[in-house]
Amino acid sequence: MTHTANLTPEMVQHARQQFPALSREINGRPVVFFDGPAGSQVPQRVIDAVSHCLAQTNANHEGLFATSFESDAMLHEAHRAMADFLGADDPDCVYFGANMTTLTMALGRALARTWSSGDEVIVSRLGHDANVSPWVLAAEDAGARVRHVEIHRDDCTLDVDDLRDKLSDRTRLVAVSFASNVSGSINPIEQITAMAHEVGAEVFVDAVHYAPHGRIDVGELGCDYLACSAYKFFGPHVGVMWGRRKLLEGLAAYKLRPAPDDLPGKWMTGTQNHEGIAGTLAAVDYLAGLGRELSAESPDRREALDVAMAAIARYERELVRRLIEGLLRIESIRIWGITDPAQLDRRVPTVSITHRELTATELATRLGERGIFAWHGNFYALPMTEALGLEPEGLLRIGLLHYNTPQEVDRLLEELASLDR
Ligand SMILES: Cc1ncc(COP(=O)(O)O)c(C=O)c1O
Repeated sequence: MTHTANLTPEMVQHARQQFPALSREINGRPVVFFDGPAGSQVPQRVIDAVSHCLAQTNANHEGLFATSFESDAMLHEAHRAMADFLGADDPDCVYFGANMTTLTMALGRALARTWSSGDEVIVSRLGHDANVSPWVLAAEDAGARVRHVEIHRDDCTLDVDDLRDKLSDRTRLVAVSFASNVSGSINPIEQITAMAHEVGAEVFVDAVHYAPHGRIDVGELGCDYLACSAYKFFGPHVGVMWGRRKLLEGLAAYKLRPAPDDLPGKWMTGTQNHEGIAGTLAAVDYLAGLGRELSAESPDRREALDVAMAAIARYERELVRRLIEGLLRIESIRIWGITDPAQLDRRVPTVSITHRELTATELATRLGERGIFAWHGNFYALPMTEALGLEPEGLLRIGLLHYNTPQEVDRLLEELASLDR
């Protein structure tokens, strides 16, 4: 089903009102938060859920008393909510942890025990290092070989032909990003999965950057593992992993003896961050709430997420169109990523730039002083900044989310244009 309801300016204003941070001011002007790719702001309901968990239901797992019953019910619901968010059928195949990096390191360690010399692992230059180094280290442990897929330098997209050339019956795993946290380029995951499965390789998807921008459906993507992080989609600092049941059950997890042997507990090492998981559940429900506002019927959570994420993607596409058009008019700025208006559905609204005269640090400092918050550097996407020759200074990254407005984009463009005058 296609979902066509759009986020109106009034709805965006209503959404903004739910985020306390967005009312912050600097020098009498509202702060513009373009720092979302390093962590989004959170709505009040997420803050309330974290606080409620700590104030009212603060207990460890599986106790025989009220706070533990309530906490366990919340955890159960959080697995269901994340399964809805990821389009997964089985909530037990979703598990939580400290962050995506830690979860990926643990999975890599477990997978390495199934690899041996002669095996190959494919990573890409479009990846955040959290989707490269864990696999390089795991391959080292197993004596396997790592192959790096190149990018097209002109528009900072993945060279899918290079990936095809590197795939062989020796490939055990292909690790790709859903979207780049530098250029915003979206990878054709379904195509990559089909290619990898043809040679018998598994596919790991890093959906950390993509998650706040569009619908994730692991069934449609066909991947084998997928990771994301709640703090990028309006939640607290919690990592989330999904994997196919057969694979998660078959692998030996590095775990303690008294910990469960079944899913999802097998992969959830130590005592969990219950308050963070409560906030993650609230973040998913915030997004579903947006979908319900947009729907004539009262959809269930999964359908509401379909509606919300489709509307967010459309809204953000127009926002990034405006940003890119404006940036292209500023002579001293170079955009590293897709700029063709006809190709905007191949990117998320994360736009990284360099300036002919000013460094990324200088740009971020000047904008920060004027109340516009944007990140500078390599954002840990070192494989990409190295490939593009952008080390050590890196880029300035403007990260748009659905709580950003056309007026904020215009304010940024004015500030950047004034640097040329
Ligand atoms: C694309 C991408 N992948 C992975 C990560 C690492 O996520 P985490 O901080 O949850 O370990 C980040 C963090 O910025 C990211 O942007």
